[in-house]
Amino acid sequence: MTVAFAQRTESLRPEGAYQVLARAQELEARGKDIIHLEIGEPDCPTPTKFGHAAARAIAEGKTHYNPSAGIRELRALIADDAGRRRGLSFRAEQVVVSPGAKPNLFFPALALVNPGEEVVYPDPGFPPYEAMIRVTGAVARPVALLESNGFSIDRDDLARLVNARTRLIILNSPGNPTGGVIPQADLEFVAELAQRHDCWVLSDEIYSRITFDGHAVPTIAALPGMTERTIVLDGFSKTYAMTGWRLGYGIMPVPLAERVSLLLNHGIGCTAHFTQLAGVEALSGPQDAVDSMVAEFQARRDRIVEGLNRLPGVRCLKPQGAFYVFPNIEATGLSCESFADRMLEGGVALLPGTAFGEHGKGHVRLAFTNSGANIDRALQRMQAVLSSL
Ligand SMILES: Cc1ncc(COP(=O)(O)O)c(C=O)c1O
Repeated sequence: MTVAFAQRTESLRPEGAYQVLARAQELEARGKDIIHLEIGEPDCPTPTKFGHAAARAIAEGKTHYNPSAGIRELRALIADDAGRRRGLSFRAEQVVVSPGAKPNLFFPALALVNPGEEVVYPDPGFPPYEAMIRVTGAVARPVALLESNGFSIDRDDLARLVNARTRLIILNSPGNPTGGVIPQADLEFVAELAQRHDCWVLSDEIYSRITFDGHAVPTIAALPGMTERTIVLDGFSKTYAMTGWRLGYGIMPVPLAERVSLLLNHGIGCTAHFTQLAGVEALSGPQDAVDSMVAEFQARRDRIVEGLNRLPGVRCLKPQGAFYVFPNIEATGLSCESFADRMLEGGVALLPGTAFGEHGKGHVRLAFTNSGANIDRALQRMQAVLSSL
């Protein structure tokens, strides 16, 4: 039977990482050894204390419905922690807790953007941005991130794109897939445009704790006049190695938080109570596990950037945050798709840049969420593939 799907879902495709993972697993099932550099999640375990906190909560019966926006204790802790780290002062009422960060991308967009209005989002960028924009019925307007300016927003492109129909601008810093950080001056440029055209900004700061060389990552929310038109998106997935727990949050002006909570109420219900108590444990305890994870990522970043720059035809910038590198592979003579295919055949799973949008072409993404020893082995395999071309 052919199903007549609603038009709003017609352009949906699975995220590239899931597709490559499935192909890699097929090869593994046939006995091939694959080094996984396609997956965007920390490879370290969730600290055991968080699991104990959740287990205690389950034993105490914290297994029922709870407020859609999250339990008061966690919202207050998030407001305090997120505010302190950004030099801002947030109230608990501004925080909406969600199962993972993703609902706090989709629901604010649903709450703010009418069908036919425009949303600007980074390209290359996290694939759900475009997918969710299209599902809301809005017009998706990609803004180029260029290697030539450290993968920050291309200002000329942005100025050309933002107009009276623009309702929302999505930023992501440090960024997936590039690891680029948007400098203060570019944020000021975006803020001026957003205020002039009266649009909202969704600032995806999920990698804000994973930054290198002591670089502070500025947030647009801290610029004058911006807190009242900004949604800060963050969560526990990356910072605390809790991707499978599904715990994230958005911080936004109270009226929007109330509207987003209503969407959560009807669309999801609430976030598991015991998961939120694991989040309370994460925020209130010592942060040394985060610090050592970030130190390990920095060492791996140095190793992979150095190794990639030694490969023929490969050129790689040093990312300032997140756990991805986005090297330029144009000089190998391969498209990014066939580069990724050949590497998979050679035993290394990575993603073509076009999995993140048109402007990703000529690049591939490698996640250094694998051990230093495996990164070295992956680089050797890549060298072998490139030498055999
Ligand atoms: C840029 C970016 N934003 C948001 C998310 C979603 O995070 P979560 O798994 O908490 O929904 C991810 C996850 O890969 C991401 O890379």
